[in-house]
Amino acid sequence: MTKKSYYITTPIYYPSDNLHIGHAYTTVAADCVARFKRMQGFDVFYLTGTDEHGQKIEKVALDKDMTPQHYVDGIVEGIKVLWETMLISNNDFIRTTDKRHEEVVKNLFQKVYEQGDIYISEYEGWYCTPCETFFTERQLIDGKCPDCGRDVERLKEESYFFNMAKYADRLLAHIDTHPDFIQPESRRNEVINFIKNGLDDLCVSRTTFNWGVPVPFNDRHVVYVWFDALINYVSAIGYLDDKDKFDRYWPANVHLMAKDILRFHAIIWPIMLMAVGLPLPEKVFAHGWIMLEGGKMSKSKGNVIDPLQLVNKYGVDAVRYYLVKELSFGQDGMYSEEMLVNRTNSDLANDLGNLISRTVAMINRYFDSKIPESIGEDALDQELITAALRAYSEATEKLDKLDFAAYIQAVLKLISRANKYIDETQPWLLAKDEDKKDRLGTVLYNLVETIRIAIILLAPTMPTLPERANQQLGILEDPATLTWEEAGEWGAARAGTIVNKGKALFPRIDIKNLDGEENSDNEELENQKIEEENNLIDIEEFARIDLRVATVIACEKMKKADKLLVLKLQVGEEERTVISGIAKAYEPEQLIGKNVVLVANLKPVKLRGVLSQGMILAASGPQDNHIEVLTVEKIESGNRVK
Ligand code: ME8
Ligand code: MG
Repeated sequence: MTKKSYYITTPIYYPSDNLHIGHAYTTVAADCVARFKRMQGFDVFYLTGTDEHGQKIEKVALDKDMTPQHYVDGIVEGIKVLWETMLISNNDFIRTTDKRHEEVVKNLFQKVYEQGDIYISEYEGWYCTPCETFFTERQLIDGKCPDCGRDVERLKEESYFFNMAKYADRLLAHIDTHPDFIQPESRRNEVINFIKNGLDDLCVSRTTFNWGVPVPFNDRHVVYVWFDALINYVSAIGYLDDKDKFDRYWPANVHLMAKDILRFHAIIWPIMLMAVGLPLPEKVFAHGWIMLEGGKMSKSKGNVIDPLQLVNKYGVDAVRYYLVKELSFGQDGMYSEEMLVNRTNSDLANDLGNLISRTVAMINRYFDSKIPESIGEDALDQELITAALRAYSEATEKLDKLDFAAYIQAVLKLISRANKYIDETQPWLLAKDEDKKDRLGTVLYNLVETIRIAIILLAPTMPTLPERANQQLGILEDPATLTWEEAGEWGAARAGTIVNKGKALFPRIDIKNLDGEENSDNEELENQKIEEENNLIDIEEFARIDLRVATVIACEKMKKADKLLVLKLQVGEEERTVISGIAKAYEPEQLIGKNVVLVANLKPVKLRGVLSQGMILAASGPQDNHIEVLTVEKIESGNRVK
């Protein structure tokens, strides 16, 4: 049996500048769905790409003294690196400058022209270059672009027009009979009202610049960018040159985008498809915007967050997790780095991370690192099992609806149920009673199963999680070929599997580092290596040494020991006696009144009947009398040295 296909797309982004976290949002969300569908066994085609023509790109390139092609090539290279870094699993990357794409644009333009839906006339209207959009007088807001608020120019030029009104009723009927076509619901109503207000014919060519696909029968004109760009969804899957592939994937299951470009996808694109006689996509889904304090994040406003920097700072898991979870799909979401850090710490480091490390630690301690067997379930166990299976069905349903926040919630609910289960079953008490060993084993087995399920459910969001978790738990058959259904089957983890306590799966991220130095994953790894090789300690270990400033209030030679001095020290309120092997270098009087550095939490030792309560720091050279006690000038006795 051949697999059912699933075709999902993101918008093709303008390579006018580097992309930002808003673009990453759509791309990560689509990636999450693509991975989910692949795990379900679909033959997935996930497409993203770049929209490279148009006046704006031409201008940006000229300003930099570059050809547009040269300019976009550079940006596109960076975009591809970005998506690789973010573990985006796109099957293809379409560029509107690809020959395969331009051929389809010419072909379809010609076709629609020949059947009389495109005609030549003269255009007069207001054009917003950054938005690549014409507006009528009444669409302007205070004389400015209704979308971005910037100045528009009055243009009058010969243009080809696409007779959209002709298809308006058919489109309305389609929307009516396909309630899921435009999602979410509120957006659907907006689109219906917009169409009902009457569709103007669409200007589909320009003559005032050259950077575009030439109109095949009139090379003074280039095809208007939106007519060009939308066609990527069919050109990428072989509309002209690979009929099998095209038939396999078209119509698309979902075009994903933000609400800024819904109208192009829910009105212009369907009408173009009707005109060329192709079926419409199953669904057009518009999510909200990521907002910053100062409003929508956008390249043209310049208030952008670079996703690469975030990934370098916090790791790809944390950033992907944040994007999928925090920004609920219907509405706009606020972006803040602090929220990203808090989310990662509370959901991942605390809830899931602790669940895993507690479970692994208990299996290590009580069962010699082998996952124990489950010996029959009681009511409490049943509750946990039901919660796990519910999480599976809820996550499935929510992901199918592209309700990402609710999908993550379903998994989080399960994780917190499992943490509560630990409190309820109190395994550490069971461990004290040899008769309860079986019960303890059952509890730990149930925890392992819950973790296994949660990890599978989170895999589309955090693609490296299964592999990393498996290094500790060894419970997944093969992390690379996980199926979604495995999360719906209780009892798949095999007893007897060895668990290994490893590095924390989700280390806490330090909020203090927010604006500070970035530590990339690589640097992290390198540091770890250096640490192991050189037997280094970390700062916490050092901090265990309590160093204090101490004033020498008395000092004398130790009887019958020519190397030792007995010092009386004032350490804040406290007095201490310390024996020090510095008699060859110092006369007792030399030291009195000096502020020295004391190791204050050293275990006391008795030397020749005298109790020495600590040690003072001194540097020493090769000879016996080559010793210099460390002293402090201005800091008073009792203060810390670190
Ligand atoms: O519109 N919040 O490209 P574009 C959420 N080339 N999503 C955001 C976002 C934000 N602040 N900013 C950008 C174009 N996006 C056309 C598309 S498709 C045939 C042609 C995402 O570079 C979101 O998906 O302006 C939005 O729809 C898209 O980037 C716009 O990208
Ligand atoms: Mg835009």
